[in-house]
Amino acid sequence: MVDVILGLQWGDEGKGKIVDYFAPNYDIIARFQGGPNAGHTLYVDDKKVVLHQIPSGIFHQHTVNLIGNGVVLDPVTLKRECDIVAAFGIDVKKNLFISERTNIIVPTHRALDKASESQKGDGKIGSTLKGIGPAYMDKTGRNAIRAGDLLDKSFISNYIKLRLKHQKLMDNFHFNEDISTWEEEFFEAVEFLKSLNIVNGEYFINNQISKGKKVMAEGAQGSMLDIDFGTFPFVTSSNTISAGVCTGLGVSPKKINEVIGVTKAYCTRVGSGPFPTELHDATGEELRKLGSEFGATTGRPRRCGWLDLVALRFACMINGTTQVVMTKADVLDNFDELNVCTAYQVNGNDIDEVPYQMNKMNIDPKLQSFAGWKTNTTKIKESEALPGVMKNYINFINSYIETPVTYVSNGPGRDQIVKV
Ligand code: GDP
Ligand code: IMO
Ligand code: MG
Repeated sequence: MVDVILGLQWGDEGKGKIVDYFAPNYDIIARFQGGPNAGHTLYVDDKKVVLHQIPSGIFHQHTVNLIGNGVVLDPVTLKRECDIVAAFGIDVKKNLFISERTNIIVPTHRALDKASESQKGDGKIGSTLKGIGPAYMDKTGRNAIRAGDLLDKSFISNYIKLRLKHQKLMDNFHFNEDISTWEEEFFEAVEFLKSLNIVNGEYFINNQISKGKKVMAEGAQGSMLDIDFGTFPFVTSSNTISAGVCTGLGVSPKKINEVIGVTKAYCTRVGSGPFPTELHDATGEELRKLGSEFGATTGRPRRCGWLDLVALRFACMINGTTQVVMTKADVLDNFDELNVCTAYQVNGNDIDEVPYQMNKMNIDPKLQSFAGWKTNTTKIKESEALPGVMKNYINFINSYIETPVTYVSNGPGRDQIVKV
């Protein structure tokens, strides 16, 4: 069976920490979409590690980690990350596997990402500029180079063909970027990648499932950044929702069991696009400061606001979320008052569904207010010790989204999590 852990908001919900926490219960952790736009933070031996490409189960010696076909893979980032992981004594040649169908990010994808964003002016998506959009375009355009192709004699000629095509696109954008250093790093990293386990991912995972092994699919980004159901066009280029697990790993929907959604106790977004509950005031600043809300991949300040229950319920519906983990509850420890959004007010009407083209609407969030719990919760281990006011907050969320919050994370550390 396959359980899924994915983000219910605009990314950075704390998926890395939660995957790392649950990983000991699983045999395989598999990434099914996204690429190095992801930044998943975990603490290993009290040291902070940010993973972009490698699944967050890598630090558990017995766990096998798979980069699935739905991922776009930058060999340079992967190599860098393998070096970091090796310093912790992890042998990636033993417990990291890559699907031969995984699409490769080449240096010109990164350059094209820059070119495309620089053309957009006010309509900038705020991309991480890691080449994600252009790489997925080459996948659907049927031009991509895949991990399995790196082992083929025709790789270099295919690479040159692709680079030429990209160069023409960049000429159209009147954009020029010297990629010679990137290319040098790329080819070095490709050699390294070829030395890793490149496997038939779909048989690999299904054979393990048949043997009764437990798989966890690790999502990147968040449901509101999904290419179909997110706040388009301010989204990423993959299906971040649970349906992406089937196409991104080659497993049947019948094999999916628990869908564990991760949400912060409030909301953040990095990059452009609609964010109805965004706070532009001192409270937003306070959330950013207390939550250390700066991007794990780009270092950009994250936009902060109150929890948006309209969007959260939508995300639970689209994903078939069976349980919710609420992270960063401790960040709210010092607030006198908390708010959650229960409806969007548009032209004097309350709507409780996520509308099409949110970016073209003027949305005023309708807020429900709560007294803060004003207690340091970071050392709490048992549900009974959580403040009653926090429990009220959680109960309200449970009933609104019709999905139970089963864990509360109360700090970035591995052991800072409470089963509710
Ligand atoms: P991801 O992309 O979903 O894995 O999340 P990120 O790693 O980008 O961002 C989450 C940030 O919050 C990281 O810095 C984590 O160390 C931190 N974090 C995770 N859970 C908690 C929590 O419960 N409390 C606090 N204070 N920080 C947390
Ligand atoms: P994790 O896995 C937060 C955002 C970017 C931008 C938009 C498109 O760490 O939660 P892209 O690089 O995909 O072209 O950017 O999506 N974005 C993320 N925001 N967390 C992420 O990943 C993100 N990955 C992409 O900021 O707005
Ligand atoms: Mg992140």
